[in-house]
Amino acid sequence: MSEYYKSDVDKEKAPIYEALLAYRRSKQRSFHVPGHKNGQVYYQWMQQTEVVEDAPTEHSNRVVPVRTYLEMMEMDVTEITGTDDLHHPEGVILEAQELAAECFGAEESFFLVGGSTAGNLSLLLTVCDEPGSIILVQRNVHKSVIHGLMLAGARAVFLEPWVDPGSGLAVMPSLETIQAAVQKYPEAKGVFVTLPNYYGMGTDLTPIAGVCHEAGMPLLVDEAHGAHYGQHPELPVSALSCGADGVVQSTHKMLAAFTMGAMLHIQGPRLNRALLRQRLAMVQSSSPSYPVMASLDLSRRLLHVHGAEIFTAGLAAVKAFKRGLAELPRFQLLQPSGGLQREPQCGEQIPAAMPGRTGYTAQDPFKVVIYDDNGVLSGYGLQQQLEAYGCVPEMSDERYVVLLFSLGSTMQDAEQLLEALRHINTVCASEQSPLSSGVSPEPIRQRYPATYVSTWNNIQADHQLSEPVTFSLQPIKEEDTREVPIESCSGYRAAEMVIPYPPGIPLVYPGEQITQKVAKQIKVLRDAGAKFHGISDHTNRTLKVMKHEE
Ligand SMILES: Cc1ncc(COP(=O)(O)O)c(C=O)c1O
Repeated sequence: MSEYYKSDVDKEKAPIYEALLAYRRSKQRSFHVPGHKNGQVYYQWMQQTEVVEDAPTEHSNRVVPVRTYLEMMEMDVTEITGTDDLHHPEGVILEAQELAAECFGAEESFFLVGGSTAGNLSLLLTVCDEPGSIILVQRNVHKSVIHGLMLAGARAVFLEPWVDPGSGLAVMPSLETIQAAVQKYPEAKGVFVTLPNYYGMGTDLTPIAGVCHEAGMPLLVDEAHGAHYGQHPELPVSALSCGADGVVQSTHKMLAAFTMGAMLHIQGPRLNRALLRQRLAMVQSSSPSYPVMASLDLSRRLLHVHGAEIFTAGLAAVKAFKRGLAELPRFQLLQPSGGLQREPQCGEQIPAAMPGRTGYTAQDPFKVVIYDDNGVLSGYGLQQQLEAYGCVPEMSDERYVVLLFSLGSTMQDAEQLLEALRHINTVCASEQSPLSSGVSPEPIRQRYPATYVSTWNNIQADHQLSEPVTFSLQPIKEEDTREVPIESCSGYRAAEMVIPYPPGIPLVYPGEQITQKVAKQIKVLRDAGAKFHGISDHTNRTLKVMKHEE
């Protein structure tokens, strides 16, 4: 449980959820939205004909959802007396948000119904309070951050992330890079980083918060993948406890909220909270989903009441899986090469093994990142094989598969996954015909040598800081663009974003020069079957680029 826990709050309450139960019990007649009237519209259809649950061929079953779904509708309420208003909270929502702030160690918490996306957008729109505001932003960010820069009309100085040499995966900018950026751009409105990354890799942000605060800048953290951080001794520290000023967490990813349920936590004097409220009202619906908000409330209550104990079963499952994995040496686990270690504090000597005060010293135990050390299966191939055995991973890339455990994982999950890997170990023992089975066309180790850098990374090795890049909502004129085959897009400026999804980190943003390296990365990902957002050609053969200036 958070160190900010105060015993005088009634943590056992779940005010929004309780309001929904009371609403359902009240059986009052609805003369308000939503139009489904607590599911009544479907119940009426149900009464007209006998409905057989889950029998889609029945006539009425084609229009009536299953009972579980209908029951959810009974609690899908809106802003009426007693249910409060997310954009002007005075009752149950205010109470639920205050309880969340207590539980997560924030001064103030805001419920988000549009995921971390809404949090990132509103943070950027708050800090970049006028067009042309300079902001220091980690380059490998989720697309919502690039969209926030566009909406804000900001000028972004991109900070190159540090790449973990052991894995080839980008983590976040080093302390040195951030120090250099705040010195060069003292007028910047803030520093925006993402931690942990999609693979659960991270570090203690305390020294970075120190550098930002010394420069008078807020530290904003996209902690979408770390809503559970700081809540159990075996979990990495949370960004808030490291001193971050604004932190966005996808409660739906690593805790127990419904999809889209997220939170924005604030502390300290560096963010304009009145403006933030206004920005949140701009990017969030005026009819936020109560089931989603109630799920945030329930997720918080579970954690608040039971504390670290809620992770016991999930951690036991993950440990059982890792023990079993150790007996399958073919499938290796991603770990910090120097072992997990404490980050040096600001001013402290950097250990020789650490390239900068940053990078990768903490691994989320729930994000199990594995790879085929025999080099037979690519990450994509291994994912395909696992799915064939009924185990669906979170994500894969050309090398790794990310297996996401959580507080909800069980021993049976771990056992089935091990069973699948044992089977794959036998069936895919040697190189097979490449693409048909998702098997890598050549051994991974050959293709990705020691200098391997993951294709997600848009690394410009020649500089740590970009010049300020101006973002805006100004659409690119069609007549200024042309379509070119991905094979020959190098040298052009992109006219659209190229976003492998997941992880949703744009390889290029509109207007950015496509280097030879990035052009190759796009092709490699496309050929490996990666999915993209942003590319208008759905066959992924061509890319929209800016015509060369005459
Ligand atoms: C790092 C990061 N930030 C933000 C988001 C957006 O989160 P959400 O889906 O909750 O809007 C994601 C989504 O995957 C993400 O990976």
